[in-house]
Amino acid sequence: MADAHFEVPRLAELYDPLDPDRSDLDAYARLAAEFGARTVLDIGCGTGTLACLLAGRGLEVIAADPAAASLEVARRKPGAGRVRWVHTNATALPPVQADLVTMTGNVAQVFVTGEEWAVVLRAVHGALRPGGRLAFESRDPGRKAWLGWNRGQTYRRTVIPDTGPVQTWVDLTKVEGDLVSFRTTFVFDGDGAVLTSDSTLRFRSRGELADSLAGPAWSSTRSGTPPTGPGSSSSSSPGKRHSGRPSGRRVRLGPVVINRPAWRRLWFPPKAR
Ligand SMILES: C[S@@+](CC[C@H](N)C(=O)[O-])C[C@H]1O[C@@H](n2cnc3c(N)ncnc32)[C@H](O)[C@@H]1O
Repeated sequence: MADAHFEVPRLAELYDPLDPDRSDLDAYARLAAEFGARTVLDIGCGTGTLACLLAGRGLEVIAADPAAASLEVARRKPGAGRVRWVHTNATALPPVQADLVTMTGNVAQVFVTGEEWAVVLRAVHGALRPGGRLAFESRDPGRKAWLGWNRGQTYRRTVIPDTGPVQTWVDLTKVEGDLVSFRTTFVFDGDGAVLTSDSTLRFRSRGELADSLAGPAWSSTRSGTPPTGPGSSSSSSPGKRHSGRPSGRRVRLGPVVINRPAWRRLWFPPKAR
């Protein structure tokens, strides 16, 4: 079960209007073009922004997410009819023989145990054609972005079309090793409703990610940092992919790109792509 933010219809409707700048997805669109991908599987597609973008460029797109409410928002978007939407989690992926699999935003971090992550990587492998690639991102634990996840630094009041003003903020609830838990609160000024969404993300280091990808299934790996990085501000909210205010402080690793099939070596270019 995904977090309330993605599963509860009223909250899923807020996802895009609360975070309209999706320039973080440009890196993925560039990768799809660079690789000449014709079939893309977007895991944890949420409200489907990347899926619709790529489908609009003529790619065959399969977009999967376990949150029905988010998929419902996605299906109403222009161009959504060209996307194949699949209501599933990352462990039960359709056998699509994709050229490229993507996990954007915080998706790679929702798999909090090593076993879950390993199962997902195996499922991704099964969904890729030989020679296909996985591209994903993950926040850099060294930045400790969660230190800014408090009401004082994250409070916003946003006027949402057809809904009215909504107040939102984030409170850090627990840090346990590399597991970071937080609560997002939503106050709907229109009817006074207060909803919360609890989340836990795992912050894997670059080395840990590299180790998790080191196996016979994967070949050359490279990683960079997105130019206007999702979570580019250390005080940006955790549920957001990016702050909309590039600060030059990069807090994410990625996209990490890995190739199926045979493992040879891991390669992290020194510069952001
Ligand atoms: C922060 S949102 C990112 C959504 C989208 N990728 C984006 O960039 O806007 C995280 C997404 O991960 C999805 N998710 C949570 N658990 C998942 C799982 N086990 N398998 C696949 N997706 C999952 C949630 O439903 C949610 O849509």
